[in-house]
Amino acid sequence: MQPYLIAPSILSADLARLGEDVADVLKCGADVIHFDVMDNHYVPNLTFGPALCKALREYGIQAPIDVHLMVKPVDRIIPDFAAAGASYITFHPEASEHIDRTLQLIRDQGCKSGLVFNPATPLSYLDYVMDKVDIILLMSVNPGFGGQSFIPSTLEKLKQARRRIDESGLDIRLEVDGGVKTNNIAQIAAAGADMFVAGSAIFDQPDYAQVISQMRAQLAT
Ligand code: DX5
Ligand code: ZN
Repeated sequence: MQPYLIAPSILSADLARLGEDVADVLKCGADVIHFDVMDNHYVPNLTFGPALCKALREYGIQAPIDVHLMVKPVDRIIPDFAAAGASYITFHPEASEHIDRTLQLIRDQGCKSGLVFNPATPLSYLDYVMDKVDIILLMSVNPGFGGQSFIPSTLEKLKQARRRIDESGLDIRLEVDGGVKTNNIAQIAAAGADMFVAGSAIFDQPDYAQVISQMRAQLAT
């Protein structure tokens, strides 16, 4: 398995001083910035577009930016995010008319591609596209909002996804998003995840370095 990655979600950051807050969380030990894109159509909330991603790059943020698209339709926004400096682009298969084409489009734009699975979305969407994904992202909450509780059935689903990745022999990250905290991250890692999105668990605390080092300590157990 690859080294663990901690990806704070900017949904819970201080949006009025986002550049500074993102720089802070990276200085405090985060690996990747998770960028939640919501369109008030595929999910009942509205967040950020490519201009904000570009602004973070222009501010000097160099860490990988993990763009989680919760939008429908999905294809037309992909080139804009690639041009804005996205590193990973993931989308929900229900939001794409042609999943294989969307995955290819992301790679053609020079980004790493991934599929996102809602709690009730089956992993069978992976059946014919494993060779086109760099990341499998399992939602452990229903998408749309930060601060929700981790849905326990995700643990079994993570084990199944881990088995699929190991059997494929491919270099694929297994990311989990929603309700990740210091007190459940070890269990989530034991189920097979190697990339952890955490929004409220990190940004709602005054000392980011302390939370991130507590998470890493849990991952080392
Ligand atoms: C939910 C988003 C998450 C969210 C996670 O739709 O995809 O990335 O920010 O927030 P927490 O960690 O607070 O559950
Ligand atoms: Zn997300």
